[in-house]
Amino acid sequence: MNVSLDTSATADLSAPLVAVAFFQDDDAPGAELTALDQRAGGRLVTIAREEGFTGEPGKTLLVHLPDASFKRVLLVGAGKASDARALDLRKLAAAAAEEADKRHLALAAVALPAALASADPALAVRYATEGVLLGAYRYTAWLTDDKETRRHLEGVRLNLPGADQAALAPAIARAQVTAAAVNLARDLVNAPPVEVTPRRLAEVAEHIAREQHLECTIFDEARIAAEKMNLLAAVGGGSSQPPRFIHLTYRPDGADASTPQVALVGKGLTYDAGGYNIKPTGSLEDMKIDMAGAAAVLGAMKAIRAVAPKVIVHGIVPSAENLVSSTAYKPGDVIRSHNGKTVEIMNTDAEGRLVLADALSYAEKLGCHKIVDLATLTGACMIALGPFTAGLFANDDGWRKAIEAAAERGGEDLWAMPLAKKLKAMLKSPIADMKNIGERWGGAITGALFLQEFVGKATWAHLDIAGPASNDKPEPGTPRGGTGFGVMTLLELIANET
Ligand code: BES
Ligand code: MN
Ligand code: ZN
Repeated sequence: MNVSLDTSATADLSAPLVAVAFFQDDDAPGAELTALDQRAGGRLVTIAREEGFTGEPGKTLLVHLPDASFKRVLLVGAGKASDARALDLRKLAAAAAEEADKRHLALAAVALPAALASADPALAVRYATEGVLLGAYRYTAWLTDDKETRRHLEGVRLNLPGADQAALAPAIARAQVTAAAVNLARDLVNAPPVEVTPRRLAEVAEHIAREQHLECTIFDEARIAAEKMNLLAAVGGGSSQPPRFIHLTYRPDGADASTPQVALVGKGLTYDAGGYNIKPTGSLEDMKIDMAGAAAVLGAMKAIRAVAPKVIVHGIVPSAENLVSSTAYKPGDVIRSHNGKTVEIMNTDAEGRLVLADALSYAEKLGCHKIVDLATLTGACMIALGPFTAGLFANDDGWRKAIEAAAERGGEDLWAMPLAKKLKAMLKSPIADMKNIGERWGGAITGALFLQEFVGKATWAHLDIAGPASNDKPEPGTPRGGTGFGVMTLLELIANET
């Protein structure tokens, strides 16, 4: 997909489809709309009024024009101008790309509203480019019908009159890299579990390592046992697809022993049937998404050279399949973790925290100062926050704020949750150091409290992404299925670490 900058006057745009923001303010629907409307003899606003289109966010209206250099204008509801933010340009551009592709058009143009773009044109162009590439994403790998797989849209022009082409080119290039990283994460989540196994995730990591010049270490099942990652081994023990432990390392130029180290840790359950605490029909069908944390980490590592962080970044993925067999672990088992703590298994479906426990203690042993893990960890977090918002738990206020700020810039939704100490009692076991589940209430919190036991003194945060990792209903910029949630936040986060 070709994304380019068009610096001509908005009224001079020429494309089979032009998308323009329509603000929900009675007499001022937007300068760009007014410019196009003058060329269209006032038809745009007239038709919008006749159709009852007021510019409500999320609503669009396609208007055909008989003799203009733009045959179709997509009016994109942009809400009140006073509420609009640069990030909204992602949705505007995504709506343009989706609509044009759906209509089999090869080219679309987007009039970027000066009201949102002029303060920081590079940021505006970045968000718009991401919108195009994220909005045009489709997962077609397993479709055999040509009609279904054919892409029609070839290019999108971002119109910003008078903008400085050369100055904005790097923003477009950077957005192309980050969008490709998000789309890789989406592909990994959308691919069926028959394809994405722990071994396949390891191959993808090796590929990224070659492309980005990263160090790459993969532990196979024998090495996992030798490293005493017994929780990971136990969770993966019920599958003929053996577990893998993946470790990628990025070092900035001139890094030495004093360079700060950050670890990105992603839950990589390529399938979670629940084990002997098997999930019911209705819950099983979605459980290929249980490696979305791993996908976010691998996506971020794929874009890491473009971001060029000043710190050492470790990408760590414990990966396994949680199935049922005569070699599967059982409720009642007691298992000694990588850091020596013993865990009584009370529910084999609380497996994510087990594989993460070994990965977190490994990250701490590496000497990582700051750790963030991403995991589709609990249904309880979706009950608490709904399907679009990740739960953020942190043992450090500064790290929490850094992650909140990164998510804000990356346009991802998360909400801080408490590591409520009182609930720790729920994890007490009569025969081991702890149990792997608490009681029913506060399930997202007890999951996070369990993880906290394995990070020692490191600054750590946990993102429960069970909700936002995938979506049932498509939205502009976020097609149905895997969302790639977390990639943008991670990239913003490591870009700002020093
Ligand atoms: N992978 C699931 C959590 C999940 C649920 C992710 C829905 C995405 C959508 C996790 O391994 C799990 O099974 N969690 C249990 C924990 C419980 C046994 C304490 C859950 O949420 O029910
Ligand atoms: Mn589970
Ligand atoms: Zn799981």
